Amino acid sequence: MVFVKVVFGDARNMGELQDGSVHLVVTSPPYYNAPFDFPGLFPSYGDYLDLLRGVGREIYRVLAPGRVACFVTQDVRVEGRLYPIVSDLIHIMVYEVGFEYQEKIVWRKPEGYIRISRRSGVLIQHPYPMYYYPDNIYEEIVVFRKPGEFDRTKVPEHVRERSRIDVRRFQVEKWYLSVWDIKNVLPSEKWSKYTAAFPEELVQRLVRLYSYVGETVLDPFLGTGTTCAVARRLERNCVGYEIDLELREVIEERLGIGKPSLTEYTRGADVKEVVVRNDARRLRTTLRERIERRLNEKNERSMRDNHS
Ligand SMILES: C[S@@+](CC[C@H](N)C(=O)[O-])C[C@H]1O[C@@H](n2cnc3c(N)ncnc32)[C@H](O)[C@@H]1O
Repeated sequence: MVFVKVVFGDARNMGELQDGSVHLVVTSPPYYNAPFDFPGLFPSYGDYLDLLRGVGREIYRVLAPGRVACFVTQDVRVEGRLYPIVSDLIHIMVYEVGFEYQEKIVWRKPEGYIRISRRSGVLIQHPYPMYYYPDNIYEEIVVFRKPGEFDRTKVPEHVRERSRIDVRRFQVEKWYLSVWDIKNVLPSEKWSKYTAAFPEELVQRLVRLYSYVGETVLDPFLGTGTTCAVARRLERNCVGYEIDLELREVIEERLGIGKPSLTEYTRGADVKEVVVRNDARRLRTTLRERIERRLNEKNERSMRDNHS
């Protein structure tokens, strides 16, 4: 039996969680004002960094000493300008919040899975120097460690054994490299329309590599609920924060809130709790309308270009 708790509210306040009560964080913050994910969500880049800072401080408080927080993210280009999100995140987490910078893994997506646009086409139309704009096929997984000791020898033997990592998979799927080849989730897939969901495969690797069965995983930017869905399946407890109440239905369906799953009948019902705070907001309808407007404009532009 595990517990799953979802709080709708701003993750800069995780007052529901006690200091040191979380063993692993797996998360992907919003991609600043990315045109096809979060257009116009933040008034400025400074406001966006304030969010990372605020949530980073809360993560530091709730994480147990010696344990890690994994951030999946990438630099974002908005109206032609590239924002150095990964560098700024590392700077904030290490030099302002107090984490140690432990690891960086590159998540490489297959070539055919680009979500947005092929920038590289420009060079095909203009095969000359200074027309080079590569297509982006990777994101970064940055792992931060909270200082302090995690004593592995105190983990009970039966927990250690139930958390054993499959070394064959580790080798065959090349988890041992700092570049992970994993298919991304396209926006057309069930949970991910209008939300940049990360793949379950990526989350399951992190959960298996950095937490033990029965421990607690946190995602302060829960989105469609991927982290909690995976954590629960791997017998870890999970707490998720999500500001957008409009994702409630998707999250509840995905986590089987309100109806126990088949495995629960055999291993005992999971405890599932949903809290709606009054700082929750309604974002998806507005974001969706903005994204659709942009997509229509883009289609009209390319039709015009094809006809001229
Ligand atoms: C990149 S998405 C996460 C997607 C998620 N990994 C998944 O697989 O579905 C980031 C999420 O953070 C949420 N968010 C933005 N600001 C927030 C805040 N202050 N507190 C909590 N959630 C927030 C957004 O609504 C969005 O759903």
